[in-house]
Amino acid sequence: MTPSISQLSTLVGETITLQGWAYNFRSSGKIFFLQFRDGSGRVQVVYSAGDLPAEQWDALKSLTLESSVTVTGLVKAEPRAPSGFEIQGTAFAIIALAPEDYPIANKEHGPDFLFDNRDLYLRSATPWATLRIRDQVFFSIEQFFHEAGFIRFDTPILQPTSCEDTTQLFSVDYYGNPMYLSQSGQLYSEAGIMSFGKVYDFGPVFRAEKSKTRHHLSELWMMDAEMAFHDQVDNMAVQERMVKRIVGDVLKFCAPELKILERDTTLLQKLVDEPFVHLKHAEAKAILIADGIADVDPLDDMGTEEEIYLGNKYQLPIFIEDYPAAVKAFYMKRYVDEAGVLRARNADLIAPEEGREIIGGSQREESYDALKKEIVDRGYPLAEYDWYLNTRKYGAVQHSGFGIGLERTVRWITGNHHIRETIAFPRMLNRSTP
Ligand code: 4AD
Ligand code: MG
Repeated sequence: MTPSISQLSTLVGETITLQGWAYNFRSSGKIFFLQFRDGSGRVQVVYSAGDLPAEQWDALKSLTLESSVTVTGLVKAEPRAPSGFEIQGTAFAIIALAPEDYPIANKEHGPDFLFDNRDLYLRSATPWATLRIRDQVFFSIEQFFHEAGFIRFDTPILQPTSCEDTTQLFSVDYYGNPMYLSQSGQLYSEAGIMSFGKVYDFGPVFRAEKSKTRHHLSELWMMDAEMAFHDQVDNMAVQERMVKRIVGDVLKFCAPELKILERDTTLLQKLVDEPFVHLKHAEAKAILIADGIADVDPLDDMGTEEEIYLGNKYQLPIFIEDYPAAVKAFYMKRYVDEAGVLRARNADLIAPEEGREIIGGSQREESYDALKKEIVDRGYPLAEYDWYLNTRKYGAVQHSGFGIGLERTVRWITGNHHIRETIAFPRMLNRSTP
């Protein structure tokens, strides 16, 4: 196998050849400092004019930013270097010389410029580190579920009905009839557990939300998990184990990436070791009111500032439980509380450090009659939900599930300000290219 920068610790003292790109360089007289990346990492290659044939030194002198190159040299430990290593160059060749107008220079660019050039911006250090952590989060979730006895059960992206909120649907023309892009695979996963017991899906979902915030995408990746014979308490326990596993893995396997992102990991470490906080929705609203937060409505959803405030107050992930049923989706199991408020047996998991809601989950209404009535009361087309109601008609069981937003989670763990940084090519209210 050809060596890579990620393996340099095992290659000290050896002369190796690597292929990659020149992301920066400078020269001082007869020394040339090449900042080189190969996809797996970054390292400095130092060339001395005397060590190279004249034509290779000339090639170095003609180098442009982001040209592809082949480097050969001796691997040395270098504690002062960010990578911990340096290569003493002994040979150099250009694979493809880039034109001199590479648009992303080593200076501050605004986000609009960077995302207009996202295809190139992806090569920069912070997107590289962020998207590698995304890959780890994805992998940890897959591993967690397989180890816990779930099977991956992929749900359709083209759906005839709405799962969450009918006002947020993107519609497409499906052979002359309307279909909608999935908001969540949940309803199909509920059918899946009647065969497999515990399933999860992982794929793109779409929200035609007119929200222009740093927490919202129009196309995002969601993992929906669904479990037969689980109540809401069991559901939250699975979520807590999963989040601890994700964060624990990122701390263990992504230290170089977290360092590039200058992420302070104190609170991430804390949540791996400590139990998450549980607050009833009514309790959370009472705390917000007592703490003097403006415009708190005790019967409404949690607002952005409210979620951020609670995250800062507790410095741990918080399950906010039992929202008023009126602000939540039709499939949630309900009960009437002591104050007479109809509530859902649900929880949103709020991440600290401005992470906001990363998970939405609930116990599901298993009564055929109650669920049918809710569908009718909401004015949804009953015939389209026939197949879904079969999950309650033939062998209904107590069951629960949840959905975690991949980009919300990655934004929180990486400490990026804006969610657009956490997906390769973001789709948002005001961005659909490149
Ligand atoms: O809370 P949501 O809407 O829940 C569902 O869709 C359920 N059907 C999931 C389930 O029970 N299987 O979405 C789940 C998560 C949110 O907590 C959030 O992390 C993310 O998906 N999410 C978004 N992320 C970015 N941009 C958006 N517009 C998002 N909408 C939801
Ligand atoms: Mg939600």
